[in-house]
Formats: sequence, C-alpha cells, structure tokens
Amino acid sequence: MCGIVAAAARREVSEILLEGLRRLEYRGYDSAGMALIDNEHNLQLHKQQGKVCELEKAQKLRPHLGCTGIAHTRWATHGEPSGVNAHPHISGQRIALVHNGIIENHMRLREELMAQGYEFASATDTEVVVHLLHRALEGGKSLLKAMQDTVGRLDGAYALAAIDVDHPDQVVAARKGSPLVIGIGIGENFLASDQLALRQVTDRFIFLEEGDVVLISPSTLQIFDQAGAPVERKKSLISEAVEVADLGGFDHYMLKEIHEQPRALAATFAQAANYPGIDECFGAGAGAVFDRVKAVQIVACGTSFHAGMVARYWLEELAGIPCQVEVASEFRYRKRVTHADTLLVTVSQSGETADSLAALRNAQPGEFVASLVVSNVANSSLVRDSDLVFLTKAGMEIGVASTKAFTTQLVGLLMLTVALGRRSSMSEQKQQDVLAALRGLPEYVQQTLELNDDIERLSEAFIPKHHALFLGRGIQYPIAMEGALKLKEISYIHAEAYPAGELKHGPLALVDDDMPVVAVAPSDDLLEKLKSNLEEVRSRGGELFVFADRQAGFKSEARVQVLPMPHCPEVIKPIVYTVALQLLSYHVALQKGTDVDKPRNLAKSVTVE
Ligand code: M6R
Repeated sequence: MCGIVAAAARREVSEILLEGLRRLEYRGYDSAGMALIDNEHNLQLHKQQGKVCELEKAQKLRPHLGCTGIAHTRWATHGEPSGVNAHPHISGQRIALVHNGIIENHMRLREELMAQGYEFASATDTEVVVHLLHRALEGGKSLLKAMQDTVGRLDGAYALAAIDVDHPDQVVAARKGSPLVIGIGIGENFLASDQLALRQVTDRFIFLEEGDVVLISPSTLQIFDQAGAPVERKKSLISEAVEVADLGGFDHYMLKEIHEQPRALAATFAQAANYPGIDECFGAGAGAVFDRVKAVQIVACGTSFHAGMVARYWLEELAGIPCQVEVASEFRYRKRVTHADTLLVTVSQSGETADSLAALRNAQPGEFVASLVVSNVANSSLVRDSDLVFLTKAGMEIGVASTKAFTTQLVGLLMLTVALGRRSSMSEQKQQDVLAALRGLPEYVQQTLELNDDIERLSEAFIPKHHALFLGRGIQYPIAMEGALKLKEISYIHAEAYPAGELKHGPLALVDDDMPVVAVAPSDDLLEKLKSNLEEVRSRGGELFVFADRQAGFKSEARVQVLPMPHCPEVIKPIVYTVALQLLSYHVALQKGTDVDKPRNLAKSVTVE
C-alpha cells in the first residue's frame, strides 16, 4: 500500500528517497513520486504511474537535487492510478505533500476550497490537505501551526509529510490512524511510514503516536501531541539485520516462501525450546495474564482471519476455552457483549492492518483481560500497542499471497492453545502430544512439498475454469476457505469455500460438469460425513479433486483425482494440507500467466480501511 519517505539533511537526498521507496515496493503500489527543494529554493517534482524504477529513470534523465524532500508510492483509493493522481500533490508552487490513508470529509473540504478559488488537478482525497496547508501558510501561520490547523480539519486516517519552499530545510508531518516513524541521523533527520525504508541511513527511531505532529530539520526534531503540547517520545534502537529480498533461485517469492515453510515452522516452534513453560514465548507477564483467561476473542483479516478460525477449533476442543473469531472490519464497528476474563487476540502478518489495529484500539477500557498479537513483524503498530506478543519467525514475506506467515501463525496459535489448555482441561499427555506433533511438523511439510509435480499436473484442470468450490468439514473448513482465497487472489478464478454439510442448502445448485470441487479430506472423525457430501457432488457430474491421506480410502477414478497426502498427527493436519493448497493455487496462477507475487488490485500491507 502507500509508502512515505522524507528527509531533511545537509546532503543531497534524492537517492535516499528512491532507495526508501524501493524498500517499500513489495507492499504493492501503482504510482510513485518525489518532490525536493533545490538550492535556489524551488520545488522540483517528478511523479508518474508505474514502478519506482520508472521514477528513477526520470530522475536520471532530468535530475532534481535537493537536501529536503518527500517521496511516495501510491496505491489508488480515490481516483484511478495515474500520473496526475500520484503523490506528491502541490499547492501554489510552494508546498508539496504526500499522504497515506483516507480523508473521509474530502468532498466537503473540496467544495469549501473551490469556493475560495482553489483549483484541483487530481481526483484524490489528498489534494484538499495540501490546499488547506497552503491556505494556512498564506494566512501567516508557521509551518508547524499550519499543519496543526490542517489536521484539525481532517476526518479519517492519515500519515502526512510536507515541504514548503519558504521553510527550505524543514519537513512537517502528522499521523493519525496510519503509521509514521522518525529516523534520527547525525546532522540529518528522516521520516517514513515504515522503519524498513530508513534502515539504509539509521538504526535509531521514534515511533510517532496517534495525533502527533512533528517538525524535522537537519539539526532539530520537535514532536507535539494531539493537544499541541511539545512531547518526548521513546527512542528505539533497532539493530537486527535487515533481511534482503532475494528470490534465491526461485521464479517467484510466493514459491520461495512456500518452500521456506519447514525452516520457518521450525524456527517459530523453537521459541518453545528457550521457554519450556511456553508462557514466556508470549512476552513478560504472559503467565499471570493466562492464569486469568476464561475465553478468547480473535480478530483478524483475510488469511490471518482463517488462522483464527482454525485456532477456535483447537482452543475449544483441546483446551476447553470458549473462543469467538471475527473479521476486524466488522468487529470494530459492532456493539458487542464481551464475557468476563476474555483475552483479545489479534493475528496479523504485517502488524499494520488498519482494521485489526482499529479493533485493538477501539476495545473499551477493562473490556478484555489483556491484548495479545500474533505477528510476523517486530516493531509493527500492533506489536507496539499490544500487551503480549507472539512473534512468528517466518522471515520477511514479500508475496502478496500469505503462505509461510499463515502456517507460522497457526504454530503460534497452537502454542497458545497449550499455554491456556494446561490451565484448564488439557491433560499433560495431550500437551506433550501436541508439542511432539509440532516438533515433527517441518518433516510432514517437507513431504508435502515433494508432491509439487503431482499438484502441478492436477492444477492443469483448473486453467480453463472460471469457478471452483472448496469443501472441508470441521477444522478443515477454514483450510478450504484459505485454499479458495489463495486461488482467487492469484489466479483470479472465482472460488468459494463451504463446510461440506452446507452444500445441499444452496451451493449444490452450482455443481455441474464444469465445476471443479476441491475437497480437504484427511482421515478424521468427520470423514464419513464428508464422503457422503462428495457423493452428492459426483452424482451431479461435478469433478472432484480430493486431498487425502491413504487412510481416508479414496481412489482416483473417472472424475475423481486423489492427491495422496502424508499421514500425520491429527492436530497438525490443517497446516500440512494448507501447503498442498498453496502449491495448487501457485501452479494454476503460473499457467494462467498472472502476476503471482503482485496480483492485481491487492497490496501486501492493508494500511487503509
Ligand atoms: O498483515 P495481515 O495478516 O493483517 O493481513 C491481512 C490480510 O490482508 C492478508 O492476510 C491477505 O488476506 C493476504 N493477501 C492473503 O493472502
């Protein structure tokens, strides 16, 4: 999604800004731009639709130089992807501004500004902000006061950074609802929407808080809170090495990340080896919190929501703990009744998903015992705002389609089940069985990866199709949902998942000889029920693709293809079967020629509502 990088230095910053944008590229965007104040105090602007490398080319052809600048990658919300709608937006040839987020009252502000003679070049919600800033500056306000007044007029979410030719060595910025971090240099200061963009120049950061307005220059750094009072914010030193994005010989990041799963799962579970009590894997004080927990509320989006759905089966069946799961975009706006002693668990690969963050922040004081996040990104907003943290050790995930992040989230949630279960009805033997299964998990995932060629052959049948159904029962239903999401996300085939028992209540009407039906069918307690549901499909001419272990007793025959899965402990089957479905969607997408790592319209980190 949108990315911001800004610099106030005594050296030329265009290359720093471009490198910052490159580091944010994997998140997905459709246009890029950069504005600098040159030595003569003129505003220099490059912006265009397309990749950062195009911006770089433009910069090489017609170099813009300056020590103060802002840069942006845009993921379109208001107004199509185009050069005109790309950021920075400018006003009066003196101010340039970049924005992440959505200004909800932009229509009203646009009318007000137009009535005062402001002309709009773009269809964006952002352009009102730069004109508001211009109006305040022209009215004699300081750069800081102009930004404070401007944000006072805005409804919605924003991270903003702006430069003004009349204040040539300063950048003013503000945040509410979208992340923004200051990078502290020596004789220079920076801003970005993610510290990753600034690791090239510093390891010292200040994560801004809601409502903060900040003014940086090469030698000064002033932060003001929502009420306008100067504040000190905590400085953080981030010293762990930056992971470098590298295909490592694979054709796509998604394929690489699928194959990294044995290592990522082992590394995630290895945290338990350091903390045999498991509690400590969730942070200091986790044990005391877990002692009080009587119920769990999980909130997440997309694939992370599916991880929560799986966890509900584990928490209720293995630990006897009541658990509810809801998508964050609904949960955050719903009047709800929360049972006493409920733990709020958010699940988020990026730790920046706007809806999940809002769900956490909107929790009423005292509503939950505590908050816990399962995330892959240390220092992310959800990690900073939660009481307890489980960090998955997936490593950087670049592909928009979440793969290793999902399976490592499941490991974290299964470890949470053990941590809570040992305080309720989970026997010592059961706990040991689950931990042993987790220890053996990487080997079963490796065996599944070795089915790659069989899955590739099976995937061919999907190429001409426009629709597909995914079926599962019990804990495999969320895995069917995840399989359907992966397929639609990267191959653009419309795919829906159903708990197989629901077929006859409607979706069966869709089944004909043109409808591939994928069944997640390991040998388990619900297998016979599932088999009856699959017969309903067969007898209506549907073509079945069954992912099952030998013990499930399926045989390939006319219109039934069986993919023989490794037989593994029941509790880890959802994780192992997921890997096969990831490979299925990868191969379908590959043969359809879609952009596997950056599917159309999607972004890696969804920082707007
Ligand atoms: O970073 P998060 O886990 O919070 O992201 C949530 C969803 O946006 C994400 O899982 C999305 O559904 C993936 N692209 C699915 O592959």
